[in-house]
Amino acid sequence: MIKQAIIPLAGLGTRLLPLTSVFAKELLPINGKPGLEYIINECIDAGVKQIIFIISKRKIMIKKYFYNDKFYKDLIKKKKDPRIKKEYQKILKYRKMIKFVYQNKPKGTGDAVLKTKKYIKDKYFLMLLPDDLIIKKNCSKSMIQSHKKFKSSVMASMSVNKKTVSRWGIYKLNKKLNITDYSIKGVIEKPKIEKAPSNKAVIGRYILPKKIFSKLKNLKPDKNGEIQITDAIQLLINDKEKFIAHNFTGKYLDCGTMDGYINSSKEIAKL
Ligand code: G1P
Repeated sequence: MIKQAIIPLAGLGTRLLPLTSVFAKELLPINGKPGLEYIINECIDAGVKQIIFIISKRKIMIKKYFYNDKFYKDLIKKKKDPRIKKEYQKILKYRKMIKFVYQNKPKGTGDAVLKTKKYIKDKYFLMLLPDDLIIKKNCSKSMIQSHKKFKSSVMASMSVNKKTVSRWGIYKLNKKLNITDYSIKGVIEKPKIEKAPSNKAVIGRYILPKKIFSKLKNLKPDKNGEIQITDAIQLLINDKEKFIAHNFTGKYLDCGTMDGYINSSKEIAKL
């Protein structure tokens, strides 16, 4: 069973400026609901019991969103509006599951994962990157099924246009296991087109082993000062840890860029 999920939320969101100069991108509404709530619901529906949010002082707004009790209570007393009550109850339900940890310097996804080290209890945990929404089919849920079947770590995978490989983590495939799953030999972060081993990209859903912390601890930052989760995964693969690329069947929406963000509202409105 995968009972814990982690969500890195300390990113600056520069691709969504100027909105993100004052606002947390993960709270921006997508068809009337913060993007983050879609991610939380994906976790709940996949059976996750605790979600660890990695935020920063700059992103304290995210914590406030879940801890604005006085505001709600005063309003509910005055207005008796059933909608407000329902929304408050939903927030309280989410809050029970959420734990906050801090990453005050943007030192990459690997560093964000390290901040959760002392809270991870089981052998495996789930990580969701909030820029990546997957609709129509719960990707985390189907990854958990593959995890159970193959008793290995799993990452979401999608075929991308060869021209865009330098935007993604790219898989070195080993062999096809069934319609949706491949075992992998490696993964390389944002390769140049001539160095890309395939056109299968990592999408932001990972079932990672607790062992990853020992690799992350010793990793040096890359040229941008970031510790890459991809590098820690490669080190585990070198140690014969089994990793699977899972071709999910849902629809991927990239909410981390302005065009993608605008499009995601349109796509969700069609559901
Ligand atoms: C991150 C990962 C990358 C992955 C991508 C998916 O990159 O490092 O391997 O392909 O998410 O969205 P980022 O989007 O943070 O640049």
